[in-house]
Amino acid sequence: MSVNFHNVRFLQSVFSTKNLPDPLYPEIAFAGRSNVGKSSLINRILNRRNLVKTSSRPGKTQSLNYFVVDEKLYLVDLPGYGYAKVPHGMQTSWQKLITVYLEKRETIACVVVIIDIRHELKEQDRRFVEWLRHMEHTFLPVYTKADKLPRGKQARNADALDAGLTLKPDERVLFSTKSGQGYEKLKSILASYSKG
Ligand code: GTP
Ligand code: MG
Repeated sequence: MSVNFHNVRFLQSVFSTKNLPDPLYPEIAFAGRSNVGKSSLINRILNRRNLVKTSSRPGKTQSLNYFVVDEKLYLVDLPGYGYAKVPHGMQTSWQKLITVYLEKRETIACVVVIIDIRHELKEQDRRFVEWLRHMEHTFLPVYTKADKLPRGKQARNADALDAGLTLKPDERVLFSTKSGQGYEKLKSILASYSKG
C-alpha cells in the first residue's frame, strides 16, 4: 500500500474524548514517556521540521493532536505519560484522556510505543505494553535516539528491552530522528495500516 507521508495536514487538537474527529481513517497513536521524542519522530516521518511542536522540556504535548496523512491515515500525537513535574491535577487529566482514548477508540490500528534506547526498561513502559496487550491492541515498540549510542551498545540495549518486554527483534524498530535509522522500515509498517 502506498502512502504519501508528505501529503499531510494538521486536523485538530483534542482535549476531551467527546471531541474526537469522525473515525474516517484507521489511526496510529504515538505514545511514550514525556520527552522521549514522540513529536520529533512524527515530524521526521512527515518530513516536516516543526509541524508538531517539540521541546527539550518534558510535557510539551498536552492534547491529542490529529494529522491526516494522504487522506488514508490519522496520526495521533499523544501527551507523554509519567512526567512527575507537572501539577498533579493536570497530569491526571492527560492520563485520563489517554486512558479513555486508548480504551474506547475503535479505529486505532496500531499504537506506536516509543522508548529511549539509552535507558533500562522503565516500569511504566513495561506496564503500558502489558496494558496494550491486555486490551488486544496492535502495537509497535520503537527504540529511539539510537544515534546517541554506538552500534554495539545499541544492540545490547535493544536485546535487554526485548527481553523485558517479551519481544522478538522483528517486532520492534530501532530509530533515530537524527540519523534516519529505521525511517523507511517504520514508514512501510505504518503504511500497511492505511485505508484501501
Ligand atoms: P512530550 O510532548 O513533552 O511528551 O515530549 P515528546 O515525546 O514529544 O518529545 P519531543 O519530540 O518534544 O523531543 C524531546 C527532545 O528529544 C527534543 O530535544 C528532541 O530534539 C530530542 N530527540 C527526539 N528524538 C531524538 C533522536 O532520535 N535523537 C536525538 N539525538 N535527539 C532526539
Ligand atoms: Mg510531544
